Amino acid sequence: MTLFHGDCREELAWLNADVLVTDPPYGVAFSEKRTKRQKVGAIIGDDSTDTRDMAVGLWREQQGGVNKPALLFGHYRIPRPVDTRHVLIWSKGDNTGLGDTSLPWGVSYEEIYVMGRGFKGSREPNIITCPTIPSSHWLRQRHPAPKPVPLIERLLSKCPPEWVVADPFAGSGATVIAARNLGRRVVAVELEERYCELIVERIQNTPVGLFDEFEE
Ligand SMILES: C[S@@+](CC[C@H](N)C(=O)[O-])C[C@H]1O[C@@H](n2cnc3c(N)ncnc32)[C@H](O)[C@@H]1O
Repeated sequence: MTLFHGDCREELAWLNADVLVTDPPYGVAFSEKRTKRQKVGAIIGDDSTDTRDMAVGLWREQQGGVNKPALLFGHYRIPRPVDTRHVLIWSKGDNTGLGDTSLPWGVSYEEIYVMGRGFKGSREPNIITCPTIPSSHWLRQRHPAPKPVPLIERLLSKCPPEWVVADPFAGSGATVIAARNLGRRVVAVELEERYCELIVERIQNTPVGLFDEFEE
């Protein structure tokens, strides 16, 4: 496991991985409203899809180009990357989420764009139900948008085990921990030092003996 503290547009080691599994800034700035209550601060770059598009562009430029596999979290209000082949729906069950509060329907799902080729495994529905991390959970006081580790494990189960996983927007470390749990190699980047520290804490507090290295 390798974690870089830095900007993924400059720390480019993640580009050598085999599959991109990441949850970039969405460009909807919802996290700002949410984090005013949570007091952990907004996600940097969440006011546009520029950072996401630059990272996806870098990934596509690698050997394999548009065929290089990627699983990328998204939102119904933002444009999908052009070479999206399929969309998975992460159903959050009864959680009504944010969205337009003048409407009598919440938003209880997120999209996961499937790009590239090489995914394997038994055929399953494209709706994955997995509970969110409750707002009362300690992790939500440390990061505004932590993804559930079991959800990422379900995604990684469709990636051949020899693939090295890249997460250039590591956040609280869900991809790093899921990869570690499944014995997968992972290269991650996170811009904010406090989130890098959080990832290291989480790894250290749940040891399984597969920890290799930490770089800044
Ligand atoms: C939506 S969050 C990821 C949440 C993550 N999936 C989790 O489970 O915690 C996006 C993360 O990308 C980070 N980020 C934003 N711009 C970045 C950049 N240019 N390079 C690296 N990380 C960046 C933010 O600090 C934030 O933690």
